[in-house]
Amino acid sequence: MQNLGIAITGSGSAVPATFLDNHTLTELVETSDEWITTRTGIRQRRLAKASETVTELASAASRQAIAMAGISPQDLDLILLATSSPDDLFGSACQIQAQLGATKAVAFDITAACSGFVFGLVTAAQYIRTGVYQNVLLVGADVLSRWVDWQDRGTCVLFGDGAGAVVIQANQKDYLLGFELRSDGTQNNCLNLAYAAEPTQLTQEVNVGKGNFQPITMNGKEVYRFAVQKVPEVLDKALFRANLSVDQIDWLLLHQANQRILDAVAQRLNIPEHKVISNLANYGNTSAASIPLALDEAVRQGKIKTGDIIAASGFGAGLTWGAAIFQWGR
Ligand code: ACO
Repeated sequence: MQNLGIAITGSGSAVPATFLDNHTLTELVETSDEWITTRTGIRQRRLAKASETVTELASAASRQAIAMAGISPQDLDLILLATSSPDDLFGSACQIQAQLGATKAVAFDITAACSGFVFGLVTAAQYIRTGVYQNVLLVGADVLSRWVDWQDRGTCVLFGDGAGAVVIQANQKDYLLGFELRSDGTQNNCLNLAYAAEPTQLTQEVNVGKGNFQPITMNGKEVYRFAVQKVPEVLDKALFRANLSVDQIDWLLLHQANQRILDAVAQRLNIPEHKVISNLANYGNTSAASIPLALDEAVRQGKIKTGDIIAASGFGAGLTWGAAIFQWGR
């Protein structure tokens, strides 16, 4: 019998050594530890040095996930890197493949901002459920500090850098119990890291745009409203597909954007505080890395155990949002 289900069998994470706390941020912008803590729950964030790359963080997280899964890099069939801040716009997944020595694996990037990990998990599951691949490495990694406007107090207090990874394997029983993915491009202008083209005349008839990506811009209030409304909806839908009720969830694992969003979503769904996984106080919003980073910490702390039911949801730029209900381990 073919193994057409999926099991998540390993996790890993890596963050830069350098940290920036709220007090130090007051040297850069007019803000306070009190404002940042009460509005977001964030106390400090890790920041990559200029010499540190997304690929290095992603590879470090991946090695841990591969070791926990008890496989070797040569067993990997597919490597998916969810990121919005690759080292190379052509993609960084192949560099991870090279660093790991995962010679057999095909590797490519997925971009769905802070929803990237959940979108990547569902993508990985499709390759396994169709019988095409058996061993998939999914990494969420971002170094958004490269793209933050460090003069904009509305955004610079929010983001941090990091990477998280999971190994997803073919399994007789399917532990991805339900999912729902959504996009709404009509709200794209709420959150951008956009390319700005400078017209450059090549010949009299031909001009091309040669520019740069501009720092992150965000309508915080709109994104907040969107998250608090849409995340409970999409979790409800995914739970319905999984044929589960809210009280059967062991853990609520949301994209770590803001403690107030975590609290509001948990409240709307009637999920008690002790089931909500939160580590954003230490890392801020690490975009595609935030869910696997929090997952890995909770697994290694012994909080999440084999068989636990996790309701995960990512949300962010695009706009994109999605939920996946899965059981840990096998
Ligand atoms: N320090 C001090 N004051 C500040 C700061 C700061 N760092 N930032 C803004 N303020 C001020 C504003 O200027 C404003 O002042 P005013 O009233 O004099 O105009 C006041 O504080 C209130 O600002 P708001 O923007 O209304 O603050 P709000 O309560 O909405 O909190 C926040 C802002 C934290 C950004 C919130 O809106 C939020 O979390 N939004 C969601 C962000 C998010 O989750 N993004 C996730 C997706 S990320 C991705 O996909 C990459």
